[in-house]
Amino acid sequence: MITTLTVIAFSVSVAQGSIFGNQLSIPNTSPNLTACVDQPSFFSCENSTAIKNTCCSPTPGGLVLQTQFWSTWTGLEKKGQKLPKGSWTIHGLWPDNCDGSFEQYCDLSRQYDPTPSPKVLPNGIVVPIYKGPGVDTFIKQFGRQDLLTYMENYWINQGAPNVDFWGHEFSKHATCTSTFDVACYGPTYKKHQEVIDFFDATVRAFHQYPTFDMLAAAGITPSNKTSTTLTKLQNAIKSQTGAVPYFGCSNNGTVLSEVWYFSHVYGTEQFGTYKTLDSSSPSSCSKDGPVWYHERTGASEREVRH
Ligand SMILES: *[C@@H]1O[C@H](CO)[C@@H](O)[C@H](O)[C@H]1NC(C)=O
Ligand SMILES: *[C@@H]1O[C@H](CO)[C@@H](O)[C@H](O)[C@H]1NC(C)=O
Ligand SMILES: *[C@@H]1O[C@H](CO)[C@@H](O)[C@H](O)[C@H]1NC(C)=O
Ligand SMILES: *[C@@H]1O[C@H](CO)[C@@H](O)[C@H](O)[C@H]1NC(C)=O
Repeated sequence: MITTLTVIAFSVSVAQGSIFGNQLSIPNTSPNLTACVDQPSFFSCENSTAIKNTCCSPTPGGLVLQTQFWSTWTGLEKKGQKLPKGSWTIHGLWPDNCDGSFEQYCDLSRQYDPTPSPKVLPNGIVVPIYKGPGVDTFIKQFGRQDLLTYMENYWINQGAPNVDFWGHEFSKHATCTSTFDVACYGPTYKKHQEVIDFFDATVRAFHQYPTFDMLAAAGITPSNKTSTTLTKLQNAIKSQTGAVPYFGCSNNGTVLSEVWYFSHVYGTEQFGTYKTLDSSSPSSCSKDGPVWYHERTGASEREVRH
């Protein structure tokens, strides 16, 4: 993955900048992290008084959730919109406040969601319906076919095109994540740059939590014949991440459909490091009863690994 390598190389150069007291000349990065290098640093939500520059750490949305779906169909199979074999799919990267509450659609000047949900915010403001070009056009403008291909494989919508879902996730959540604020990008900002950065950051966070493989390693694989339990699911993931994620179930707690990984982030969402934490939301899956991790039909899946 070229993207991942670039990110790692970048983090190393920032770290050296701080070790040598800023003597190394720091390249013009976007967002501009120069001011972050000499600041006291903490994981988000762990010392809010220390985090003054909200471009350096997600603030106040420092409880970061990487969320994923397990679904067995997309509804657009005939158009080729299928699920990746051997993998859960991306839902998003959400900035909860440290107390678990959250903001949404924080900057309506960056509203790219054709089907806002909710349509009206708690303060009564109506979220305008976006009718412009899909966010995939932004990705293409930045020459990021690699990112677009990855998203087409792993960031899958249900009942509507993938691109609508990506626009929804950006406008509902990333506009409330301070490190993607346009102001953090300084004078060299290129329009939609932070949208691309958000998609990259979400993909990078998703890579940290290979749910399908972590469950399979514990002997838990999709089956329409044998059910599993919430405790088995939790233990399997805890053994690999050190923390219990949120599992979501539909059908009155019996059908596994979601997982949310909670974390605090050191540095920015673009380049920083995640510390995985126990979920602060109680699971919606049955505590004692069977939990079904359903098999997908072949017609809803496709091979995307190389
Ligand atoms: C980045 O921020 C630093 C410190 O805030 C500032 O001195 C520098 O000019 C900025 N660089 C760019 C390219 O905006
Ligand atoms: C939080 O950060 C401030 C400013 O750097 C520091 O004085 C304080 O000791 C820190 N508190 C904790 C609990 O680390
Ligand atoms: C949902 O599950 C609960 C707890 O397992 C059970 O008591 C309840 O009857 C179920 N409701 C329905 C509609 O099946
Ligand atoms: C397994 O069950 C789910 C839910 O009923 C269904 O959507 C799926 O097609 C089934 N898979 C297979 C391989 O039969």
